[in-house]
Amino acid sequence: MIRKIGITDTTFRDAHQSLMSTRMKTEDILAIASKVDDIGFHSAEVWGGATFDSAIRFLNEDPWERLEKIKDLMPKTPLQMLLRGQSLVGYRAYSDDVVDQFISSAASTGIDIFRVFDALNDEFNLTRAAEAVKKSGKHLQMTLVYSVSDDDGLNGNIYNLDYYLEKAKSFQKMSADSLCIKDMAGLLSPYDAYELVSHLKSNVDIPIQLHSHCTSGMAPITYLKAIEAGVDVIDTAISPLSMGTSQPALESIVASLRNSEYEFSVNDKLFNEFSDYIESILPKYEKYFSNQISSRVDAGVLSHQIPGGMISNLVSQLSEMNELDKLPKVLKEIPNVRKLLGYPALVTPISQMVAAQSVNNVVFGKDKLINSQVKDYVYGLYGRPPAPVDSKYISIALKDYPQGNNPISSRPADLLSAELDQAAEEIKDLSSDVKDILIHTLFPNISRKFLDIKFGHIQVESEDSDNTEKKIDANDSVAVEPNKNNLNSDEIPTRSDQIRSFNVFVEDQYFKVDVDPINKNFKSIEKIEQSNSGKLKNKAVKSNRAKENTLIAPMAGTFLRYEVEVGQEIKSGDSVLVIESMKMENSIPALTDSVVSELPFKPGDAISKGDILIKWE
Ligand code: CO
Repeated sequence: MIRKIGITDTTFRDAHQSLMSTRMKTEDILAIASKVDDIGFHSAEVWGGATFDSAIRFLNEDPWERLEKIKDLMPKTPLQMLLRGQSLVGYRAYSDDVVDQFISSAASTGIDIFRVFDALNDEFNLTRAAEAVKKSGKHLQMTLVYSVSDDDGLNGNIYNLDYYLEKAKSFQKMSADSLCIKDMAGLLSPYDAYELVSHLKSNVDIPIQLHSHCTSGMAPITYLKAIEAGVDVIDTAISPLSMGTSQPALESIVASLRNSEYEFSVNDKLFNEFSDYIESILPKYEKYFSNQISSRVDAGVLSHQIPGGMISNLVSQLSEMNELDKLPKVLKEIPNVRKLLGYPALVTPISQMVAAQSVNNVVFGKDKLINSQVKDYVYGLYGRPPAPVDSKYISIALKDYPQGNNPISSRPADLLSAELDQAAEEIKDLSSDVKDILIHTLFPNISRKFLDIKFGHIQVESEDSDNTEKKIDANDSVAVEPNKNNLNSDEIPTRSDQIRSFNVFVEDQYFKVDVDPINKNFKSIEKIEQSNSGKLKNKAVKSNRAKENTLIAPMAGTFLRYEVEVGQEIKSGDSVLVIESMKMENSIPALTDSVVSELPFKPGDAISKGDILIKWE
């Protein structure tokens, strides 16, 4: 008897996220969408956290409009999104009213299948989103985030068969319509997959889907064993955006099962047109294919278990800090941090948190600078880890924690009061509907700039628009110095409506510079991307270096807020300001006792390592 297997196409979400920094533009998706609709996919994954973020941050595109337009062109194929439980498409837990509104808006805009996951597989972080999906009448797919705690795979101490079967049963009780095994680092081996899928099939009675990545090279073989074990749906990407850190190739998987008892419900005659088209648009995204290792097998992941995307983030973070030579030490520190935190799976937002903390431990010394998210995590605001947090580390991390040093044991979102009304009030001058308000709620540091662009208040070319691109020879002196440190706040020119953005390339580094053509002032400089080719030079943006009576930025990032005022007395060790770096908030402590005399930055400003953050008397 022939058994039909469904295929979810990930080309418009995970594939370009994994291989080209999530930069695929809406126009390039729309040009082929109606053809893809004819293929007969079980579903098309088109939306998720990184695609939402990247649309706003880099592409100046409204992610809601993208979804609406794809829906128009793909009426036959269920559209699917990846949702981070209570964190939605953001990096922290949001209040329940935000979760309800986001899911309701996503459902009415075009999402048919919600793949809901939590990095800790914690029901606390999943229940509200699951209820909201059921209320919307859409398909609820609950996710088993697959991780390993040691070299034994599915026979490990923490992540083993019992663990997953218990989670699966609990998720089914939450009215899941299907279950997905989400193997984000490609660590699920073929026989473990066989074991896991067959036990899931006999313990739960909803369809099982498998999502893996080719990072370690095992995924195509793993898919075959999962199919033999009874998996119902698998995730693939069209060949030009497959393999490496992406999914197995659609064409190869379908061809592999020729003359077997399995059959895919897709029309393979239409594959060529899809792949030719994707092949044709790739050259314009070439600079985002910067990480060589993402396009081939990374056997290292089998031993260190660190996903490729995380390593490329680390490279870019360390090079911004002028500390790239510390990469091997940081890679060694990651398992230590993970163990202290109770072996969380390395997936967003935990992977960024663990990476950022490992960098801090290596660069500033062990436990010298613990980022706010790690403190929140230890306090329990991210939910319950698979193993307990190290008890000594709890007292270290929560030493000066404002809420005390006793971690909570309740559902984290129960501590949050409703957020949507306040966000609506904050952005009422710039929002036309609840979707704009959601953008502001989820990305408050970049929402104003994005909405200003969306409503035409400022014109900014997108980052790779040809007519603004300026190639600068590495030997040219590049006068892209932010003037803000030298100006009193009333001397800073106001943003004119003729502001233009330029892309500036300096060797491997790439900056976005906003320029006001009237005053010829450089308004801001944002370092967008660095390639990971290993020949990075850290010399592009000059900044004011250390002077006496100043606090110097220890890292590059985005300035978020001061926690002190001019005239205030501060003591050494007091937290005085917060910098966002690698999407993590870092509270920077004062190094001496002093009285604050000047606070030159404002929220949202880009800062470089070495910038003067505070002056004192
Ligand atoms: Co994935």
